[in-house]
Amino acid sequence: MAKVLIVYDSLRGTTKKIAETLEKQLAAAGHQVTVNKGGKVTAAELEGADLLLFGGPTYHKDLIGTMKQFLFRAAEAELADKPGAAFSSYGWSGESLGILEDTMKNQFRMQLVAPGLAVKQTPSLAKIKAAVEPFAQEITGKL
Ligand SMILES: Cc1cc2nc3c(=O)[nH]c(=O)nc-3n(C[C@H](O)[C@H](O)[C@H](O)COP(=O)(O)O)c2cc1C
Repeated sequence: MAKVLIVYDSLRGTTKKIAETLEKQLAAAGHQVTVNKGGKVTAAELEGADLLLFGGPTYHKDLIGTMKQFLFRAAEAELADKPGAAFSSYGWSGESLGILEDTMKNQFRMQLVAPGLAVKQTPSLAKIKAAVEPFAQEITGKL
């Protein structure tokens, strides 16, 4: 059993549904999953997880502001070689995923264990579940 910490934010609910679906699927695979919405986590909480999943939507071709602030907080933690992956939701351009992954890889020196998940905005929980499933399975295979 691995300790997974999911940190995300969402304005209109799609990224929230992705995070909650991930939580359910990883918990069903036997992992201990903690979810934080809004990014107010401590360096100790980040360092104490075996796997970190960071998620956020794109607004105005940028990562949502609360997650940008979170990345500054995360920069205070020692995350080198920590396994992680990113997830996002978007409407058309989807810059948030690349911003999260670039920062995790280049600034925090984390190990990205799966290509990031980008889900196009949808009210359909079934579509979100179908998109999350292979991502969760790939991550679970690395734990
Ligand atoms: C005002 C506004 C600006 C947006 N800007 C972008 C954008 O620049 N690029 C993009 O891919 N999607 C954009 N979107 C779409 C959102 O990324 C999409 O609705 C996403 O699912 C929202 O995630 P959330 O429900 O977790 O907040 C925008 C949506 C709104 C309402």
